[in-house]
Amino acid sequence: MLHRLHRLSALLISLYIVFHLANHLAALGGVEAHIRFMDGYRNVYRNWLVEPLLLTCVLFQVASGITFIIRRRGRRHGFFDRAQAASGAYLAFFLLFHLGAVLYGRHFQGLDTNFYFAAAGLQVGAYPAFFMPYYALAVLAYFTHLACGLRWLLRRRLPPQALDRAATGTMALGLLLAVTIVATFSGALYPVHLPAEYCLGDCAPGSPVR
Ligand code: HEM
Repeated sequence: MLHRLHRLSALLISLYIVFHLANHLAALGGVEAHIRFMDGYRNVYRNWLVEPLLLTCVLFQVASGITFIIRRRGRRHGFFDRAQAASGAYLAFFLLFHLGAVLYGRHFQGLDTNFYFAAAGLQVGAYPAFFMPYYALAVLAYFTHLACGLRWLLRRRLPPQALDRAATGTMALGLLLAVTIVATFSGALYPVHLPAEYCLGDCAPGSPVR
């Protein structure tokens, strides 16, 4: 029963994440393109019904995922079985930290948690040393977790070699997306002019930070 609810909740969260990652890829077309995309789908998820449902699903996902990790401690065998637990543990840490930061930024700092909010952590002072691996691992962990879950669900329908190849391909796609998104937000593709309120007290307002 708990496994079934974990999968159902994963499906709902994934609906958000597909748009979320597509939104981050839209930044390849510039900061304005990212902000326009985000303004569009915020209309769908930022309301009294959808956002609390999404946040509840995330909390349930973290709690049920940690329960599965503890229950099967020391009884995992093989690369994909272990990768599923490791990626799940990282996602649990990331999601709590990420949502905490976004909600704190929005409600206590009064910030619009848009492109600049994430870019600040990836460009100002020493913060990138933490935020680069933090975001890159999150995208990779999401795809790894998805790959391992699908591999298990399809285990009776496909031969082992095809399962392994599909899972490895999904993880490689995750790595590619992770590097692309982090590079874009880090200012590797075009200079980013951070507005003063996002500067974390460490850069001249409006100046490119690289
Ligand atoms: C490079 C990677 C990422 C960046 C730069 C990023 C950045 C952001 C930003 C700026 C927001 C605020 C959105 C808004 O104000 O409407 C947000 C929200 C959110 N992110 Fe991410 N994110 C990343 C990856 C992820 C991943 C991998 C997940 C899940 C596995 C995730 C889950 C969420 C969720 C659930 C919210 C919604 C919080 C709310 O209710 O407002 N993010 N993210």
